[in-house]
Amino acid sequence: MSEAKKSLFIKTYGCQMNVYDSDRMADVLARDGYRRVDSADQADLILLNTCHIREKAAEKVYSEVGRLKKLKDAAASEGRTVSIAVAGCVAQAEGEEIMARAPAVDAVIGPQSYHRLPQVLERVQRDGHAIETEFPAEDKFDHMPAPGSARPKGQISAFLTVQEGCDKFCTFCVVPYTRGSEASRPVDRIVEEARGLVERGAREIMLLGQNVNAFHGSGPDGEDWSLARLLARLSEIDGLERLRYTTSHPRDMRDDLIGAHRDLAKVMPYLHLPVQSGSDRILKAMNRRHGRDDYLQLIDRLRAARPDLALSGDFIVGFPGETDADFAATMELIRTVGYAQAYSFKYSPRPGTPAADRADQVDESVKSERLAGLQTLLGDQQRAFNAQMQGRMMDVLLEKPGRETGQLTGRSPWLQPVQVDAPAALIGSIVPVRIDRIGANSLFGTMLDPVSGDAGDGETAATLRPGAAA
Ligand code: SAH
Ligand code: SF4
Ligand code: F3S
Repeated sequence: MSEAKKSLFIKTYGCQMNVYDSDRMADVLARDGYRRVDSADQADLILLNTCHIREKAAEKVYSEVGRLKKLKDAAASEGRTVSIAVAGCVAQAEGEEIMARAPAVDAVIGPQSYHRLPQVLERVQRDGHAIETEFPAEDKFDHMPAPGSARPKGQISAFLTVQEGCDKFCTFCVVPYTRGSEASRPVDRIVEEARGLVERGAREIMLLGQNVNAFHGSGPDGEDWSLARLLARLSEIDGLERLRYTTSHPRDMRDDLIGAHRDLAKVMPYLHLPVQSGSDRILKAMNRRHGRDDYLQLIDRLRAARPDLALSGDFIVGFPGETDADFAATMELIRTVGYAQAYSFKYSPRPGTPAADRADQVDESVKSERLAGLQTLLGDQQRAFNAQMQGRMMDVLLEKPGRETGQLTGRSPWLQPVQVDAPAALIGSIVPVRIDRIGANSLFGTMLDPVSGDAGDGETAATLRPGAAA
């Protein structure tokens, strides 16, 4: 099957699903003898896994191909063949255009066809190029090797795609076109994949989907299972300690999922729940299918179920027709909710989406000004959220060596990076930590004795645990 070893370099842009997909593509290609390397310099195959979400993201691909062409030409002058393939959402949206605009690209492959990578590369050998952007009838997941089979152990927090695609058609968004219509994977396959990840060392799994809370995968009983039911099932896996999921849509946040945040200890108290805007007028124009009050009531219900739930969101400023008053409503919503973290963007018109054709586009300078204001507020909220951790005791999942020797980096339940002095043998463990200092990007803490709760200075885990009796 595999001849001489060939090397593969993958550069990943965009969202977490692309990170997951890059790993899966590496697994597919490992069967054909490709070994993944960390640099493009000596690679036989260079794969760009691209993102189309905003204009800048897509433009990056063309400039990267320009740089890679030099590498390819230099290799050719030494008699070595380097192939360049473009995968991901730009590939899906602009396959033909990429081929025409960037002849250095040998292959283009869309997100639903990754299982066909070997055949695509064969076609490149035969015909000099290949484009694969049809949505295939078969399910790619049925035709790809188990994740991680080609990679070393040791990923403490792992991604697992459970749902892909989107039928919501927000008027600004390319995802329904690039990822296709919404589909959920069967429960059994997800459980099997999760078990495999845990056997390879994972302690935390982040379930991925463009609309993950719309999950409705077929269960072993023949019924469609909700995300809440899937989380309950995954909670039963020994050794799997933490569960997260992203990205959710406010419309699909059903009662049983809210209940899962109350009832399932392994589901972490952190939720990414994008709202995009705080103005009902803009939400309607975005086709978000919910209003500001629906969102705020949902947040109340979530917080009632899980009082320490931290929220994260996405915001777009300068959507066509957005007025100062609309923007003020977004700022007001942010003040009302209080986010632990958030992503915010200037509206970027995307070809083929309804909002791009509107005549009332907002000036770039206005977008920049609004974005700056919004990010200042969100930055303040994030700092305030982190600051309240000072002196508190929390469980930290230790994931990897820290910046300094003797230090490990872990994550709090609220996704904050935490630096702790701890031996490398504890990587993969959840340990009690007292937070001593709040840095710009991390929290710094002292590991407590898991049994006595003693930090060695008289304070104990029991007295520091939030909510513990004084
Ligand atoms: N599926 C997710 C988000 C996918 S895209 C969801 O429904 O929330 C991630 C974020 O990119 C979006 O939440 C939105 O804030 C931003 N985004 C998407 N299209 C955009 C555009 N045309 N311009 C600016 N930001 C955009
Ligand atoms: Fe895009 Fe809206 Fe679907 Fe999210 S819900 S992927 S923003 S169309
Ligand atoms: Fe980008 Fe596609 Fe993800 S457009 S954000 S890579 S789904």
